[in-house]
Amino acid sequence: MPTPPRHTRLRGQKALVTGASSGIGSAVALHLAREGAAVAVNYAGNATAAEAVVADIVAAGGEAFAVRADVSKEDQVEAMFGQIIERFGTLDILINNAGLQQDAPFDQMTLAQWQRVIDVNLTGQFLCARAAIREFKRRGVVPEISCAAGKIVSISSVHEIIPWAGHVNYTASKGGVMLMNKSIAQEVSPWRIRVNAVAPGAIRTPINRSAWETPEAYESLMKLIPYKRIGEPLDIAGAVTWLVSDESDYVTGASLIIDGGMTLYPGFAEGG
Ligand code: BGC
Repeated sequence: MPTPPRHTRLRGQKALVTGASSGIGSAVALHLAREGAAVAVNYAGNATAAEAVVADIVAAGGEAFAVRADVSKEDQVEAMFGQIIERFGTLDILINNAGLQQDAPFDQMTLAQWQRVIDVNLTGQFLCARAAIREFKRRGVVPEISCAAGKIVSISSVHEIIPWAGHVNYTASKGGVMLMNKSIAQEVSPWRIRVNAVAPGAIRTPINRSAWETPEAYESLMKLIPYKRIGEPLDIAGAVTWLVSDESDYVTGASLIIDGGMTLYPGFAEGG
């Protein structure tokens, strides 16, 4: 395959990024748009922030619109996909990013905390992937647009494999995302639909502010990161863009860990 010119790897493609009003989601939305994709910027509550992401994309010469939906609600997800198909005509790329934490010691965790995290992080990804795959199958491969009939990238976490005390609902959701994705990938590969995940470590976003905002917290975080810096949203966005481009056409069912070495058992650097 010849090397494509810069900034056009996704030309003509239509993308949805869930939870795109902040953090990793907004960086991914901007990055996809920079490569030529038209982007639906999903948000659950903060319309102003979502509109700011849209404005940034448009200011850079891209195409985008904001679309509200709580991804854990079937009717809202279906309505969101209806709006996107109406506006864009189809969908080529889904970035399943929306996610949250509601932390508590295990014996104090309420059913509501358990359920909300599973609903958004796992059921939300199921509902959006299902709606996307229906559209990908309906349309099939359009060779001028992409080798694949559709691409999904789920934003998982290093906690799809690293256990995390006090975050049992979160780790359960991410472990679920990991095997859900691989199973979907296996099932839909014959339709030329690719399903991958990115598993970020500690990335500087609002979800983990307490882990990086004071020098003491940052220093303590560095004990877990051999590469000795926190990740930035752009560290994730570049990889996501590659995973939905034709450059990665033979990659499916993968979980790409991007964590500065967090999963490398940092304690063993000096022990064992
Ligand atoms: C969590 C962050 C955490 C990181 C590394 C992410 O999935 O959302 O709060 O800093 O994993 O532990």
